[in-house]
This record gives sequence, C-alpha cells and structure tokens, in this order.
Amino acid sequence: MAVAPGIPFDIPGYRIARQLGQGGMATVYLATQTSLGRQVAIKVLAAERTPSNELIKRFENEARTIARLDHPNIVSIYDVGRASTGQLYYTLPYLPNGDLSTRRNIQDQRVILGILRGLAQALAYAHEQGIVHRDVKPENVLFDKLDRPLLADFGIALARYSDIRMTREGATLGSTGYMSPEQARGHVIDGRSDLYSLGVIAYELLTGDLPFHGPDALSVALAHVEQAVPRLPPTRRVWQPLIDKALAKDPNDRFQDAAAFLRCLEQIEGDLDGRRKPVATAIGWRERLSAIPASFW
Ligand code: ADE
Repeated sequence: MAVAPGIPFDIPGYRIARQLGQGGMATVYLATQTSLGRQVAIKVLAAERTPSNELIKRFENEARTIARLDHPNIVSIYDVGRASTGQLYYTLPYLPNGDLSTRRNIQDQRVILGILRGLAQALAYAHEQGIVHRDVKPENVLFDKLDRPLLADFGIALARYSDIRMTREGATLGSTGYMSPEQARGHVIDGRSDLYSLGVIAYELLTGDLPFHGPDALSVALAHVEQAVPRLPPTRRVWQPLIDKALAKDPNDRFQDAAAFLRCLEQIEGDLDGRRKPVATAIGWRERLSAIPASFW
C-alpha cells in the first residue's frame, strides 16, 4: 500500500487520515480499519532506532495484559503491530470528544467529582489486576460520546521508553507535571503513584493551575519531591483533605488504594450536598433551638 502524504510509514489494513496528536514518545493518528470500515486511533511509538527483540516482546506482552482490562472508564486496545518502517504501534477506539487537557476550566465541582470518580474507578479496577498506569495525566484522559472519562495508555511499553529517556538524558525528560515523587526519583512504583498523579489532576481541575512549576522538567520533578503543595483557595476548602492525602510525598502517608480515594470523594460529595441544603432547613434548626426554653441550657 502506498504511504500517505506526510505520513512516513504504512500500516497494512489501515488507511491513515490525519494526525490527532503528538507527545514526546508517540504520535496518534486517525485511521480507517479497511476490513471493517470503522474509524480507529493508531498510536505509533517514537523509535529513533529499531526496537530490540526484547522491547518488542515486552510491548506485546504488556499489550496482551492490557487487552484483558475490561472497564467502562478504560480505553481498550484493538491490536498491536509494527509499521512498514519498524515502529511499534497499537490501535484503539477513536474517541471524538477530546481529552482532559482541553477542559481545564471546569467550574462545576460536581462535574470535577464525576471525572475523578470515573478515573479512580478505572484505577481501582486496574490495580486489582496488578496493572499500574504509570502516566496518569490529562492527555491520557479521553471523553467518549456521552462525555464519560476514559483512561488511555495503560502501562504500555511507552512508559518504558520514558524510563530510558529519564536515565540516559535527564535534561530532556518529558512532562513531569503529574509525576509522583518516587517516580521522579526513579524508584520502583506501585498503584499509589497513580493516585498521586490523579491528585495532581484534581488539584489542577480545582485551581486551574498545577501545584508545581519550574523552568524545566527536572526542576518540576524536584519540586514534587521537596516542595509543599500550595493550599486550595477557600472556595475549594472541602477538597483539602483529598489533596493532602493524594499528594503526600511518602506513599505510606498517601491513599493506600483507589478505594480509599473513592471514599474520600464520597465524603466530598456529601459536603457539597450539605452546602446546597435549602436555607430554610438551616433556619428551621435555628428556630427549633431558639424555641427551647432558656432554663434548659
Ligand atoms: N488522541 C489520543 N488517543 C485518541 C483516541 N483514542 N481517540 C481520539 N483522539 C485521541
């Protein structure tokens, strides 16, 4: 099959239409799967050199593991393979409603709560299966036709690529805005690292800003390790316990699992509900209190 203009490779069985997005480690294309006539997204891993047999095997193994994940808030994988020029790719459902990085100005706290709940449920499910995402960030949260949030790019070999980059070329490491302190230090990570990243997403949704800034990725990574998280504004006070617990530096001080994160969200939902109780209810209590004779007190 001919290589499409501007697309430097061919993937048999797919007609690539256009580029959907580009990250440091991969490029995503919109394509048609010719056998079924359906639209899919194809994620092609950036490979400056031919991937080793070991990397290919690991990639395929991981893809198989991830293909077993079946959850309404997780983007599934259709297939994996290699392009005509050797790059590893996988295909996934095309989700037309954009990703979370384009929705940073959500005012309604219930909408924020709904997004975080969907993502925490996805993580609870994946962690139960022993799969850590490793790269939870807004670009990896896609919205389906019903605007439900789905987590994409679960634990795929992509993360291994970024590990390689981090150790060999520290200065060019990718986005560290959502990276847990232990991941920034290159330590072994577990599901609690994903919960930290989800906490950063929560912080950003609530304030419109990331907790840590710096002139380069390395200083941001260092800030995650060393700096205190700025407090939330008073209008977002009910969320402070969640932020404190999710963004604890030491994983042992953090939510220990996604179920604990979800319980905290429930608490917040209750607090938001409480704040919405009709004023009449509050006045009712005051009136009842004032009806009690002073002698009682
Ligand atoms: N960008 C990255 N992955 C995507 C997908 N599956 N659908 C639409 N846009 C995407």
